[in-house]
Amino acid sequence: MATINLVDLKKNYGPVPAVKGINLSVADGELIVLVGPSGCGKSTLLRMVAGLESVTSGRIEIGGRDVVRAEPAERDIAMVFQNYALYPHMSVRQNLEYGLKNRGTPREEIDRRVREAADILEIGPMLDRKPRQLSGGQRQRVAMGRAIVREPAAFLFDEPLSNLDAKLRVQMRVEIRKLQRRLKTTSLYVTHDQLEAMTLADRLVVMNGGLVEQIGTPVEVYDRPATLFVAGFIGSPPMNLISVEGLASAGQSLPLPRGTDIVGIRPDELTLDAPAGAHVALPGTVELLEPIGGESHLHVMLGNGQTVILSVPGRPDIAEGAAVTVHAEHAQMHPFSKETGRRTDAVANP
Ligand SMILES: Nc1ncnc2c1ncn2[C@@H]1O[C@H](COP(=O)(O)OP(=O)(O)O)[C@@H](O)[C@H]1O
Ligand SMILES: [Mg+2]
Repeated sequence: MATINLVDLKKNYGPVPAVKGINLSVADGELIVLVGPSGCGKSTLLRMVAGLESVTSGRIEIGGRDVVRAEPAERDIAMVFQNYALYPHMSVRQNLEYGLKNRGTPREEIDRRVREAADILEIGPMLDRKPRQLSGGQRQRVAMGRAIVREPAAFLFDEPLSNLDAKLRVQMRVEIRKLQRRLKTTSLYVTHDQLEAMTLADRLVVMNGGLVEQIGTPVEVYDRPATLFVAGFIGSPPMNLISVEGLASAGQSLPLPRGTDIVGIRPDELTLDAPAGAHVALPGTVELLEPIGGESHLHVMLGNGQTVILSVPGRPDIAEGAAVTVHAEHAQMHPFSKETGRRTDAVANP
């Protein structure tokens, strides 16, 4: 087991910066999820940690050891990819054994590790099959098995569930979480899926444009997004972002920190009935009512032409086109500056 430390890590492809200076400390046994939109530099970051990509500048320490110039095989990490990267002509057993054999691991040790991994992942009955005789979920399990048998200091996952259908993805996500809890192996996990990130992570690293927007537990990031980008990226449906101008044009004002020109409010914090606490009231028209099982999403166009989404319990008896009033409690609002993209009520770091 090991810690991972990234210090001002940068990567340029020619003149183009892909990773622009990342600082991150991963604790021993922690599962960190790097989440952000496609192209924000997640894979590049992970590949640098793995040693598959050179570093433009900065430091990478695994278990306190600077590995920037170490070969991938010397870094004591195991990587699990989206496309499984199994050898098609080898059986499952041979796929699991391959890396260990190459390393000259003794036969009994190989057998023990393969048996343990097969038990943990419940792929024992499939050891003599070829990858093409397995389902997508089983292949993904074999790919994880290959990482487990290495008994590495850290696991690196790059969108390992992207090729699976929605139901299997949820199932495998739970399995990965349980597996990581059981093995307590330090892990860096990359995904563009905010829900996957929220449910898996001990801590999230939200990335955008090669930079870190915010680091925190899923609850911290959800409850107090540090930037407009995070506010819009984490949470589904996304946080509503209402311009202070729009509030003013509806005759609503409220005390806000200096520099605030946008307020964010989660769909489940907007209500049709007036709340008890201090609030704003915004007239609008129902554009669309989406029933989503136990709750419904109500799309309401406000007077300034902006649409907000309310997440309401059950199936409200409201027709599309109906006039409604949307209420937002002051205490539930997140103030942001459009110019800096940051919260305006942020407390300075002590
Ligand atoms: N080998 C490469 N050569 C040039 N540009 C690259 C290369 N790999 C990635 N990039 C660019 O670096 C940026 C980050 O890519 P990547 O790390 O793959 O993002 P993500 O995994 O978050 O989708 C993108 O703009 C991508 O086009
Ligand atoms: Mg990627």
